[in-house]
Amino acid sequence: MTSESIVHSHGADEKHVDAMNWDELEFGVIPTDYMYIMICSDGENFSQGHLAPYRKIELSPFAGILNYGQGILEGLKAIRTKDGRIQLFRPEENALRMKTGAERLCMPCPSTEQFLAALKQAVLANKRWVPPSGKGVLYIRPLLIGSGSVLGLGSATEYTFLIFATPIGSYHKSGSTMNLYIENEVRRATPGGTGGIKSITNYSPIFKTVQKARAEGFTDVLFLDAATGKNIEECSSSNIFIVKDNVILTPPTNGTVLPGITRKSIIEIALHLNYVVEERDVSLEDVLAADEVFCTGTAVDVIAVSSITYRDKRVEYRRGKETVFCKLREMLTEIQTGLIEDKMGWTLLID
Ligand code: COI
Repeated sequence: MTSESIVHSHGADEKHVDAMNWDELEFGVIPTDYMYIMICSDGENFSQGHLAPYRKIELSPFAGILNYGQGILEGLKAIRTKDGRIQLFRPEENALRMKTGAERLCMPCPSTEQFLAALKQAVLANKRWVPPSGKGVLYIRPLLIGSGSVLGLGSATEYTFLIFATPIGSYHKSGSTMNLYIENEVRRATPGGTGGIKSITNYSPIFKTVQKARAEGFTDVLFLDAATGKNIEECSSSNIFIVKDNVILTPPTNGTVLPGITRKSIIEIALHLNYVVEERDVSLEDVLAADEVFCTGTAVDVIAVSSITYRDKRVEYRRGKETVFCKLREMLTEIQTGLIEDKMGWTLLID
């Protein structure tokens, strides 16, 4: 490799797959065997990548990602089906979303074909790390970063596309339900900003708010829109849905809300099951009067919300087997784990 971002040095914290206790998986980093790397210079297109043993990467201190946050992340899952095969869920959607983000941040991006081919190689090389069905999934993290040096504000001289993976269990320690706190000061996204893409820079500005909420016993924070402070947008790592009188409502993805792939799938399942779905502004009043609330995301999956706290008011929501949430989640899980035929054409069997 002639690039300035040469990859070297094995991580010291490797865990052997044979020593894994799949019943105790959490949402954390367990390094796996391989990662995929593809590099290109500014002004060129990605052309040739390769697998390499998973290890640390070396970057110039002047790298665009380190100084100016020029980077896009993605997240998707390799899922072990009930009969032991491995499938990906709507991976072309991740490829397209990365492309939209790369355009916004002035970065070249692998084509959908390159993205999918790289993904298959990375998952198959790490296939012994895909947990047994029902115990967790292999979380795959595609990353596109400005890896070349830059000082004046502008595009980096070189870009690196990486795919690495780790087996995961539930994102939220609470497991199956969330208690949300509505944040009234800090905003996650502003109109014209990057809230609608998976920019790396979207996440650390909300760490402090989320940490504080967790310290107060909440599972996560629900953010309001920056323009009016009257409508809900999304949580730190998930989209949100409310249900009122069997109508399903979710904030629209018009720039400040991430177009989640689980969000899109839940909407499509709901329409398939003949629910009315409205993508429209969801006000604080709507939320406080809702029958049910749930969140969606690749990492969080589809998870019920037990309560939402806004200022001094705490509202509890309907739970249990008869909820709209349960019906939607069940169908999504059955498709993802191969329990029912995937008539949507969403899954990609790779092993
Ligand atoms: C995902 O759901 O894949 C995410 O990217 C969430 C992550 C920020 C934890």
